[in-house]
Amino acid sequence: MTIVYNSKTGHTRQYAEMLAKAEKLKVYSVQEAQTELPEKEPVIYMGWLMAGHISGIDQAVRRWDVRCAVAVGMSPADKSVLATIAKANYVPNAPVFYLQGGWAPKKVGWFQRRAVGMVTRGVRKTLQAKAKRTEQEQAYLNMLIRGGSFVEYQNLKPIQDWLAANG
Ligand SMILES: Cc1cc2nc3c(=O)[nH]c(=O)nc-3n(C[C@H](O)[C@H](O)[C@H](O)COP(=O)(O)O)c2cc1C
Repeated sequence: MTIVYNSKTGHTRQYAEMLAKAEKLKVYSVQEAQTELPEKEPVIYMGWLMAGHISGIDQAVRRWDVRCAVAVGMSPADKSVLATIAKANYVPNAPVFYLQGGWAPKKVGWFQRRAVGMVTRGVRKTLQAKAKRTEQEQAYLNMLIRGGSFVEYQNLKPIQDWLAANG
């Protein structure tokens, strides 16, 4: 199994490299994989989330044997996020995992920064209006406003468990 990742601002790359190191797997960016990795190879595909879509997933499914797909987005991981992503991204016979990455506004263009700002405005306003915020809510709000990362090695555990059973 080989890891192929598609990362715009680095969070997905960090997760991919951590997973590769821990599991002793080869890891390629999608650009590298296009020249280095033969078609139909079994892969774990990891891509950043853009408007609910795992970037590059459709091309990856056509080119390689995607055994497992991983979405990396900015929102906290919960069951509803995962259900939405699994529904919106067609990966035949493969599980889809979700990891919280982060938000790096300085690394995206003004148009995308603005689009994300508009989409997250409601959440920001709701959190800001709260008299008392939990530690997690405060950290999330800070990330939405200034940017930040929630990449953590521990988050990879469900994927590592899946690999142990299916890798
Ligand atoms: C245009 C755009 C759309 C995005 N849409 C979503 C989304 O639907 N859900 C989400 O959780 N994060 C969304 N994000 C946030 C990114 O998925 C998040 O920053 C992720 O960590 C980026 O991964 P990367 O650093 O590997 O590029 C979006 C970001 C951009 C720029």
